[in-house]
Amino acid sequence: MSAHSRIVAWVLLVVALALTVAGSATWSLLVNRLDARVAEELANEAEKLRTFAAKAGPVTDVRSLLYDYLSLTAPDRHETYVSVVNGKVDQFTGRPSDGELKIDDALIAKASGASEPETGWASSDLGKVRYLVMPVRVTGDERKAALVVAVFYDVQRSEVTDVMRSLALTSALAVGVAGAAAWLVAGRVLRPVRLVRTTAERISDSSDLSRRLDVPGDDDISALAGTFNRMLDRLERAFATQREFLDDAGHELRTPLTVVRGHLELMGEEDREETVALVLDELGRMNRIVDDLLLLARSEQPGFLTVGEVAVAELTVDVLAKVRTLADRTWRLDEVADTHVLADGQRLTQALVQFVANAVRHTRDGGRISVGSALRGPELELWVRDDGPGVPADQRDRIFRRFVHGAQTGTGLGLAIVARIAAAHGGRAEVRDAPGGGAVFLIGIPAYETGEPGEPYSDS
Ligand SMILES: Nc1ncnc2c1ncn2[C@@H]1O[C@H](COP(=O)(O)OP(=O)(O)OP(=O)(O)O)[C@@H](O)[C@H]1O
Ligand SMILES: [Mg+2]
Repeated sequence: MSAHSRIVAWVLLVVALALTVAGSATWSLLVNRLDARVAEELANEAEKLRTFAAKAGPVTDVRSLLYDYLSLTAPDRHETYVSVVNGKVDQFTGRPSDGELKIDDALIAKASGASEPETGWASSDLGKVRYLVMPVRVTGDERKAALVVAVFYDVQRSEVTDVMRSLALTSALAVGVAGAAAWLVAGRVLRPVRLVRTTAERISDSSDLSRRLDVPGDDDISALAGTFNRMLDRLERAFATQREFLDDAGHELRTPLTVVRGHLELMGEEDREETVALVLDELGRMNRIVDDLLLLARSEQPGFLTVGEVAVAELTVDVLAKVRTLADRTWRLDEVADTHVLADGQRLTQALVQFVANAVRHTRDGGRISVGSALRGPELELWVRDDGPGVPADQRDRIFRRFVHGAQTGTGLGLAIVARIAAAHGGRAEVRDAPGGGAVFLIGIPAYETGEPGEPYSDS
């Protein structure tokens, strides 16, 4: 069942339920009122007859007493008077248009035998009748007489039924109108949802991620479309990045392959050794590229970092100790942050070593390279400074992208990896001018300190 017809079904159900409740309440109200009115009417009649008899003065003939009464008093609508004398209907008035009231014999018998006023139900050719029997006695007249007031209950009730019938008819009409309105409104409300769905389907069918939903307005649906569009933006960007990554990687790997192939094809007996050395060198390069690419790919995934307590001063000193032997440079320790932070020590070391490898590449023998770390406000900075040529201002952002490298340097993945390590820590990597020439490469990460310097980390 579609959302559309479900909404309509619910509206119909609720409206029908409400109308049914209202209808039955009206019905019982009207019927109760009718019953009360009939009872009151009969009580009135009894009172009227009593008053008449009291005023009539001395009478000797019961029949003429009733005759006088009947000729003076007119019955109400839906009512008839019957006088019964000695077990026989004597006269009746009222409802001439409905013909003679055929009251069953039992009522006649009861009327003539009654010694007390009484009410009850009888049947007639016009349905159920509510009656009042008033026995009438006159001193000196032996005849047993009574006045029967009969109210045509069913006739009056059929008026109520008529009202209910037309109420039911209008109710049915109302349900129909409500249903039609619900159908239209639900259609209007659901149209944008349907639009979102069909567009989303079309996008996934054609895998064309450049399409966007167009839902004008500022309601929930257009907000949904906006969210959907932003998700598509991200997906499109992610796919584009992935494609670029693959293009770049393929391109970078093809170069050493071509070199290897060329040398192997041209290899002769005499330059065999030389070629093998060259090929091994190229294969080593490819190996590094593949490792770096895998690392970059992994850096996008959760679990890239293994966070623990890092003694920053120790880490800084260790890096310097590790890299001193790499090349003949003047190695320096700028300063160290005497603190413990939550971070991935191995990745931070890897980043600094990468900075150092670049610095070595861009400095001459005897050039100066310094390593340092410091707390600057909420940030921990780790850096490598050199006295090389520095990085031109317009290159500073570029070089952190992958495969951006100089004329005869590496593959250009080093700084990209550093940038990922910094980002994974919630920080950044950047390059600045070193005072007195050269470059300062640094990463700044939020310093989640773990207590007093030197104290082992504890959770409390
Ligand atoms: N200390 C530095 N001084 C001057 N330029 C630098 C320095 N470090 C990096 N660069 C520039 O940034 C580029 C990118 O560096 P990156 O480490 O990403 O790549 P790479 O060193 O060329 O290759 P890889 O590190 O993958 O072997 C370098 O090619 C170089 O042009
Ligand atoms: Mg490098």
